[in-house]
Amino acid sequence: MSETPGGREAGGADGLERLIDDTARRFGARFGREPVWVASAPGRVNLIGEHTDYNAGFVLPMAIDRWCVCVAASATSGKSLLVAADIDRSVEVSLADLVVRRHAAAAELPAWAKYLAGAMVERLHGLGAESGGRGVAVPELDVLAVSTVPVGGGLSSSAAIETAGAVLIEAVLGAEAVGESAGSRNAGADATAADAVRLARALDCQRAEHRWAGVPCGLMDQLASSFGQAGHGLLIDCRDNTIERVPLPSPDRAVVLVVNSGVRHALASGEYAKRRAVCRGAAAALGVRTLREIDTGAWGALDAEQIRCVRHVVSENARVLRAVEALRADDLEAVGRLMVESHNSLRDDYRVSCAELDAIVEMAAATPGVFGARMTGGGFGGCAVVLATPEAYETLSRTLPDGYRARTGRACEIGTVRASDGVSGGLL
Ligand code: GLA
Repeated sequence: MSETPGGREAGGADGLERLIDDTARRFGARFGREPVWVASAPGRVNLIGEHTDYNAGFVLPMAIDRWCVCVAASATSGKSLLVAADIDRSVEVSLADLVVRRHAAAAELPAWAKYLAGAMVERLHGLGAESGGRGVAVPELDVLAVSTVPVGGGLSSSAAIETAGAVLIEAVLGAEAVGESAGSRNAGADATAADAVRLARALDCQRAEHRWAGVPCGLMDQLASSFGQAGHGLLIDCRDNTIERVPLPSPDRAVVLVVNSGVRHALASGEYAKRRAVCRGAAAALGVRTLREIDTGAWGALDAEQIRCVRHVVSENARVLRAVEALRADDLEAVGRLMVESHNSLRDDYRVSCAELDAIVEMAAATPGVFGARMTGGGFGGCAVVLATPEAYETLSRTLPDGYRARTGRACEIGTVRASDGVSGGLL
């Protein structure tokens, strides 16, 4: 399967190679010279554990074979030119100036550039660039970005852009500035150092999203884009950001499908922030720092909305852990049931689904060979994720688009995604 929701060809490692070649070619056509550095960061699909990350809970995302690829060379004009080739937009910025002004300058940037410039600048700060560029020399770069992660689809197109931007900066500054490996002969110590870099990078990217783009997201997406591993989901404990890699079933037994509802979600629109505020208020009313500290019991101090939200978070955390146990026991029926329970909880208690996502989940779950389905990501539109046998995928790709159109009047796109490695970057 090589169609993405979003309609572009993409999947698999060879898909990434092709995408990098194509991006480098477009850079050459635009700038009349070869790019020097590259960074490729994946989107993610969340298998289960929704709206739990900012409540210090559990999530189980996987990085997918859809990427944002950025290529770059040193600027020749003394200023940086950032090009979003997919939408044919560009913006000229001075990174040296942005490093000083930081997100105070965000309002001057078009929406797409807030993610890219924001992440590049926050990463420069994370690596020690101070006002005026002391410590780390601030480069000026010509950058061209393309992405096969559908925008507004709930597959973390924003985290993919941020992570690619951050790793592009790392590639330009070089391994020594990043401290990826202290050059030790101890593989364990190097792995720990690499994980520390990944976590610091994810936090820098999250800062870009909070401060530059104005979305108060959790850390799941940025962690998934950095830590992803082919064939694995990532069980993340968002209390301390520890990550366990959980093997996923082989594709001949079960495939992960993504169905794009065609309804664009906009987390910046306020509903996401509202849910965060309700959770914060509920935790304060219960006298705890985060909802992770709550289990079933007396929630008498809460109003009806808070009770619904807390019930979702507490039950969702338990579902993530049960899903991981079921995956380890190869009990895909149980995983699927938990996915459907998760969806129902997001629909009825957390209230972040929509009629279109409900329709997809209902139709998919009723199809023989489908283990389970649920909305994925922030909600209010975007994608559903489905776990199904390869045969059920064939059936769904024949029947779901017509059924969906009959019920909603809309077109949906359906495709498989593979659990992929996290971001990579360096010299081209
Ligand atoms: C968005 C955010 C994540 C997470 C999900 C909901 O994707 O970026 O941090 O909160 O919504 O699970």
